[in-house]
Amino acid sequence: MHDVHREITRWLEPLGATVRVDAVGNLRALYRASETPASRLLIGSHLDTVPNAGAFDGILGVMLAIACLEALEGKRLPYAIEVVGFSEEEGVRFGIPFIGSRALVGSVDDNLLNAEDAYGVSVRKAIQDFGLDPNEIGQAAFDPETRAYLEFHIEQGPVLEKLGLPLAAVERIAGQSRWEVTFLGRSNHAGTTPMNLRLDAIAAAAEWITLVEHVANTTPGLVATVGSVETKPGATNVIAREARVSLDVRHPDDRDRNRAVESLVEQAKQVAERRGLEVRPRERLSQAAVAMHSFLTSRIEEALRQTGCASHRMVSGAGHDAMILAGKIPSAMIFLRTPGGISHDPAESVAVEDVAKAIECGAHLLGQLASVPTFHSRMCRA
Ligand code: GLV
Ligand code: MN
Ligand code: MN
Repeated sequence: MHDVHREITRWLEPLGATVRVDAVGNLRALYRASETPASRLLIGSHLDTVPNAGAFDGILGVMLAIACLEALEGKRLPYAIEVVGFSEEEGVRFGIPFIGSRALVGSVDDNLLNAEDAYGVSVRKAIQDFGLDPNEIGQAAFDPETRAYLEFHIEQGPVLEKLGLPLAAVERIAGQSRWEVTFLGRSNHAGTTPMNLRLDAIAAAAEWITLVEHVANTTPGLVATVGSVETKPGATNVIAREARVSLDVRHPDDRDRNRAVESLVEQAKQVAERRGLEVRPRERLSQAAVAMHSFLTSRIEEALRQTGCASHRMVSGAGHDAMILAGKIPSAMIFLRTPGGISHDPAESVAVEDVAKAIECGAHLLGQLASVPTFHSRMCRA
């Protein structure tokens, strides 16, 4: 990430932006306005990614923010633009996503800083090891003059490709829950322990994982994923004493999501009890669904039309930093078509022509916000 920050700084500084890294590891680049004092528009996405990732989830949004600055060709707008490259959006290392964006809205607390990765390293320690001071996270909060947040992102799904559309405005982002469910049994010899005397943590986890899939298959709109299973001691000839399983549950309706999570946790307890094991379910995140800002979204639709694109609105099944920013400032997103709907995989891609349209759409949007005299006051009233 240090290398990424260095590289991106090399692109931003010649555009006339001032670059820093805040205390949670977000890259922040300020492109000042034509006048001071000035309000501020944040444009960003995340720089971290998932294991075995593609090249566009997150990083493309940061590149497009930089491209928007580049398209200004040095011209200053009546508002400042701050480009943000967020850290730790995916939640891979600590099971908790959006750590970078949470610092901007002031919701990084001791609970979060004390959360540990699989090796027992806390968020606080990871920040220190990166060369930053977690005591300064308060200073990462967004500037009080910030009026709005804009994020470009690949759709990561098949919808726009099916519709034959390059771009869309995001109307709403589905809520998500993340849990860590640990089944605890007893290690023993694989050759000598009769089947009826085992407390096999992996077998219990496997039974529950098929229930997770079943609940998702039979609940309209619900998606549920066990993406990681870590077992101990993890040897072919040893019955596992521990299976730590991740759970990711999403639904556009928070009540349906919460109901499903409650039922799945209860089913984990029942599986463990029937098998004589212990189970420890731990919630890592419950993020409500959020609506994007209606004024900004209508401006995006207008910018889409100015770019020669149909103005389509859609729901995002994936989570984004915009979910966190939307809690405090008007936020909006522009999606780019994702070939094959493939994401979180090396086959993830985008079409160059779609990226060009996104830059054009961004330029129209920045122009609109500069020329709509009520932009700032409208944002304040949001
Ligand atoms: C972010 O990629 C998410 O998991 O939605
Ligand atoms: Mn992702
Ligand atoms: Mn992403």
